[in-house]
Amino acid sequence: MPRTRHIRAAIALSVTITAQPAMAQVAPLEPSGRFSVYPSRAAQTPPMGWNPWNAFRTDVDEAKVRASAQALVTTGLAAKGYTYVNIDDGWALKRLPDGRLRIRDSMFPSSKTGSDTGSFLPFTGFLHGLGLKAGLYTDIGRNTCAQRWDADSPNLPEGTIAERQVGSFGHAEQDMRTMFADWKFDYVKIDACGVADYTPADPPVTSGNYQAFAPMIVRGDIPKSDPRAVEALYATLGEAAHRFGGDAATLSICAWGEALSPIWGHVRGNLWRTSPDVEFTWKSMLGNFDSVVDGALYAGPGHWNDPDMLAVGHGDFDVHHLTEARSHVTMWAIAAAPLLLGFDLRNAPPVLLDLVGNTEMIAIDQDAAGNQGVPYRDGDAMTVVRTLSGTGQRAVALLNRGAQPVTARVTWAQLGFAPGSSATVRDVWARADREPATDTITATLPAHGSVLLRLAGTPADPSTTFLDEMPARVNIAADGLTPETALAMGKFPARIATAPDGTPLVAAGKAFAHGIGLFANSRIELRAGGDFRRFVAIPVVLGSKRPVRFRVYADRKLVREVSVTPTQPPQPIDANVAGAKIVELVAVAASGGTGRPPMIGWGNAALRR
Ligand code: GAL
Repeated sequence: MPRTRHIRAAIALSVTITAQPAMAQVAPLEPSGRFSVYPSRAAQTPPMGWNPWNAFRTDVDEAKVRASAQALVTTGLAAKGYTYVNIDDGWALKRLPDGRLRIRDSMFPSSKTGSDTGSFLPFTGFLHGLGLKAGLYTDIGRNTCAQRWDADSPNLPEGTIAERQVGSFGHAEQDMRTMFADWKFDYVKIDACGVADYTPADPPVTSGNYQAFAPMIVRGDIPKSDPRAVEALYATLGEAAHRFGGDAATLSICAWGEALSPIWGHVRGNLWRTSPDVEFTWKSMLGNFDSVVDGALYAGPGHWNDPDMLAVGHGDFDVHHLTEARSHVTMWAIAAAPLLLGFDLRNAPPVLLDLVGNTEMIAIDQDAAGNQGVPYRDGDAMTVVRTLSGTGQRAVALLNRGAQPVTARVTWAQLGFAPGSSATVRDVWARADREPATDTITATLPAHGSVLLRLAGTPADPSTTFLDEMPARVNIAADGLTPETALAMGKFPARIATAPDGTPLVAAGKAFAHGIGLFANSRIELRAGGDFRRFVAIPVVLGSKRPVRFRVYADRKLVREVSVTPTQPPQPIDANVAGAKIVELVAVAASGGTGRPPMIGWGNAALRR
């Protein structure tokens, strides 16, 4: 059973989620003394494995899945970490009158056990016997995505309208019990078409074959969506998944970045999609990468941004496009993204197995500190820096997003290395050491090309760690969002060295190289873990006349409070947080203003040893 849970209101600060009566509620701006992400032992590193969807869509069967599972083992990929085998849409035949789900046994013959539902136990037993883990699929609504988007599939649920309602709406308890307690799955992916694509105007409904569902998600339209209702459905399923699967059960939220899911996903699940399904084109893959790349403050052990499964092996990422395939994997690894393979492993080209099996790439993706990389943009050239565990350890991706060659670079300032110091350089894809480097590394990249490097260098100031060098230790516990502010921001309202509207964090005309920008009426939790003595920052109010009070708490004790107005010169904060497990940063706007709270920044925020 999860411990008492903190509720972070996604939209209005005063909101409570009625579907969660058991949860204790903490006023959003009060210090919690906790790191209030989804309480979980699962997915401490981004999940890795295989899912049949990109290879087979609903044309999947047990033989294909078992052979793929076997292939994960024989190719050595399982030993390298690819352990989840996740069945996707298409497995459910119908919902029985008593609400239980019946498995399509023509697709999964081993499920024929004589009972009217069938059982996945033989199948999950097979996977567990191989040392693998098992995942299954459902939807927060009454119906799934294939029923809407793969309407010609022969593998759609059968029977009456009610029998074809195989989504988990109204069946959270029962379905999670069946999947985790009875069938022994380890992972559930929960889709959301059931609350998006069955409006009275949608073909499934107009055809008379499906019950209408007043949409909670209108794609691309936050005001017409109901983020709180969507969040509450996931919360209910997450609670039930924990009840029946324990806190090692993995919950994958698949709401495609809609309904503000990227900003509440970390409280409700282990991973959450941030974008539409990846298509097998360079443009689509880049779009999905871009949907996570500014979200480092939201990810960390047990909670990950999910730009979707890998498209490797298909279209622009097949054996004829190894440059693109490598760049795609480079981006996912530097972003601490889940690595879920989606190509047919039964006769897979060795060159692709070699690519996704590169252990140095995997070690970066799976680095225990869980810091997602932080981007720097220069036209088509992009640099992403990821702080790895171990002093001075960094991963760097240099990327060419465009079709013309570019020169990309990373500087010692971006890496936090001492000027003039030398760093060792490992080229991950070449599997070779390069000459040690000083101050800058540049690379000329062909169209869509990339370089993935692991560096070991000398930190500029070993006693000081900027929060952006350890985003996994940061939790945006309250983000000051209101319906108006939700519209005035990008995907992630809290950003590294950037205001929520994408402009730089500035004070007295000077941009901060480090820090966190977000809205006032916000609270940040830092997992300091007793490792630090002081918290330092320069608090700023951006583009508003309203004064803001900045508070620093160490294990719930107020240790510093300052009031900042936009006109006064920046005053640094230096607060004693010695030994604190949790440091919290609260910014409260003076009352009286209307509309959105001011944008604020914790400029150059750092913890000192
Ligand atoms: C989509 C989902 C895909 C796949 C598909 C199944 O909504 O994003 O990953 O699960 O549904 O129908």
